[in-house]
Amino acid sequence: MDPARGKQLDVGQIGLGRADLPAHDAGPFDARALFAFPTRPFEIEIGSGKGTFLVQQASLQPESNFLGIEWTAEFWRYASDRIRRRELSNVRLLHTDATEFFRYWLPDGIARVIHLYFSDPWPKSRHHKRRVVQDESLRQFHRVLEAAGELRIVTDHVDLWNWYREHAARNTHLFAERPFVAPDSAQEGELVGTNFERKFAREGRPFMAMTLVKVSGASAGRSMFEPPTRTPVSAPQDSSSL
Ligand SMILES: C[S@@+](CC[C@H](N)C(=O)[O-])C[C@H]1O[C@@H](n2cnc3c(N)ncnc32)[C@H](O)[C@@H]1O
Repeated sequence: MDPARGKQLDVGQIGLGRADLPAHDAGPFDARALFAFPTRPFEIEIGSGKGTFLVQQASLQPESNFLGIEWTAEFWRYASDRIRRRELSNVRLLHTDATEFFRYWLPDGIARVIHLYFSDPWPKSRHHKRRVVQDESLRQFHRVLEAAGELRIVTDHVDLWNWYREHAARNTHLFAERPFVAPDSAQEGELVGTNFERKFAREGRPFMAMTLVKVSGASAGRSMFEPPTRTPVSAPQDSSSL
């Protein structure tokens, strides 16, 4: 798996590794501080792959800051280099496991949107626990989103779609389901316009999409930032093939 095909890559100021983060037991880390204009609206993409969504959407939305999180080193390096060459100062790309980063680093109420596009389906039952969406991760996404913030999801995988629907149905105290509205990055006939969407569209696969809007109020639960009682484990590096 070498998306760069042997080309030298430079992550520049865009790509951040685990070593660039404060210690995981130092308390919440406000990732908005990574940007020159930290008060701007903040959006997070989980599993950025080759970075196509970030390149497109961050160019079209220069008044927002975007943090991509990608745990496969080759894709993180490739996408960071791509964003650096485009001189997109409103993007950073973090090389880590997104679910751990949410749970152990991110503070409450900072993100306007969380994007989750074509996440790995982990089709075998014994691997379902590796899917990004779980009851626990939904609690964390809810906590990190600002009021009325959105979790936007697209997949081509029917079983994973059913998993999303089941999780949405039993977490209505956290999120209300709304129709998905395509961002500006989407071209004619597209939902988002990521690499995977374009590849799967050529294969004629259908896509499913939803927006989960944060529900606030007494029933939505309290802050769940979790000061770690253990060292977060390293992310697997072999989960996907672009
Ligand atoms: C199937 S690819 C889709 C990439 C891109 N979103 C697209 O649509 O082209 C899923 C990506 O998510 C990454 N990924 C999966 N789980 C992750 C996690 N927990 N944290 C960070 N990255 C993750 C994988 O390494 C892979 O690059």
